[in-house]
Amino acid sequence: MEKRTIVAMPGDGIGKAVLEECIRVLDAAGFQANYVNGDIGWEFWCKEGNPLPQRTIDLITEHKIALFGAITSKPKDEAFNELAPELREKNLVYASPIVSLRQFFGLDICMRPCRSFIGNPLNFIRRAADGGIEEPKIDVVIFRQNTEGLYGGVEWSNPPKQVYDALMTHPKFKQNFGMHPVEEISVSTRIFSKKYTGRILRASFEHARKFGYKSVTVCEKPNVIRETSGMMYKMAQQIQKNEYPEIQLWNTNIDAQMMWLTKNPEDYGVIVAGNMFGDIASDGFAGLIGGLGFAASAQYNPETGVAVFEPTHGSAPKYADYEVSIVNPIAMIDSAIMMLEFIGEKEIAAKIRTAVAEVVSEGKVRTYDMMKMTGRADVVTKGAASTRQMADAIIEKLK
Ligand code: NAI
Ligand code: MG
Repeated sequence: MEKRTIVAMPGDGIGKAVLEECIRVLDAAGFQANYVNGDIGWEFWCKEGNPLPQRTIDLITEHKIALFGAITSKPKDEAFNELAPELREKNLVYASPIVSLRQFFGLDICMRPCRSFIGNPLNFIRRAADGGIEEPKIDVVIFRQNTEGLYGGVEWSNPPKQVYDALMTHPKFKQNFGMHPVEEISVSTRIFSKKYTGRILRASFEHARKFGYKSVTVCEKPNVIRETSGMMYKMAQQIQKNEYPEIQLWNTNIDAQMMWLTKNPEDYGVIVAGNMFGDIASDGFAGLIGGLGFAASAQYNPETGVAVFEPTHGSAPKYADYEVSIVNPIAMIDSAIMMLEFIGEKEIAAKIRTAVAEVVSEGKVRTYDMMKMTGRADVVTKGAASTRQMADAIIEKLK
């Protein structure tokens, strides 16, 4: 079998620990790959004034597939203060390398699966009608448009005259905001394009078809946000009718979806939304399946095939310097499983998924989060597994 090259970007803090363990698991499962290290994160901001060096962009351009741990971001002032002295005169501005990656490679599809593992003590439970306890099996995949909408970055405080004048041509703006002085107005836009709305919708329907989900739910707010949410829902209706008639199209409002989250999460399959509502919905569902230790994600560009796989969690700086890493590597490992599926290594993906599921359901090896402990360096002396021990347990199941 030909060896793949994977760009491995550990980033900062616990990103390093979880990625290292993840690669051990991939090796043990028989995935044939060379890993080339991609520099990213705070360290490179401080040393070089750029948290996403061009050499890393070049590596991803060449190899297309990347695994990513997590990075640290800090507020403007701290970013400046930690910059190497010789770089301080250069007017450098810190920009999140994740956002830069997304923009540079046009990673417009973000996919976040939320599937409960049987036996995970962090699984959501609820009261049944007869007074007993129910533990619904959740298997939801959220498709979030990753480049447009409210996170598109088109925003102003004290907007320039042309923008203000254009806004004043809208009767609602004039009526509801026209009385405020322009310098007291902030505007963040929510722009959707047909091209990228169509892409996220098709990606979600395609996924439903490929993996046998019966429904795709558009989770927006078309009754109020008529233009953007309305456009997405209308396009979804057409795409469903013309291209995916066997899949049901459902429509929920983001606010109602959050209420239903705990009522009937097992009813949902694929959920698709714009940038911000997708972010909200995916965090909501992730909370039902164990939270940050279990929340995986993929971001990709369906045209170029460039794809970055990463856990949803950040660099958890407070745990970064522990001699023994205590964090849960499963979110990272699940992200790698998504990578394997993406590149067509379905058997190895299934093998690792089964191994993780066995370890979780056996319940003998659990990281501190799964034991509902407060994260501290001494949790490993109190029965919690370390990051490495969790990976070892998964590797043991692969044998
Ligand atoms: P975080 O996700 O790093 O940590 C929040 C808390 O979640 C941790 O203190 C820990 O209790 C728990 N946690 C996170 N990952 C875990 C794991 N694998 N296993 C067990 N518990 C886990 O978020 P926080 O503290 O808001 O941000 C820390 C830094 O990370 C910041 O600099 C932030 O900008 C950055 N960040 C980076 C992200 C990324 O690289 N994609 C995403 C979110 C935050
Ligand atoms: Mg989020």
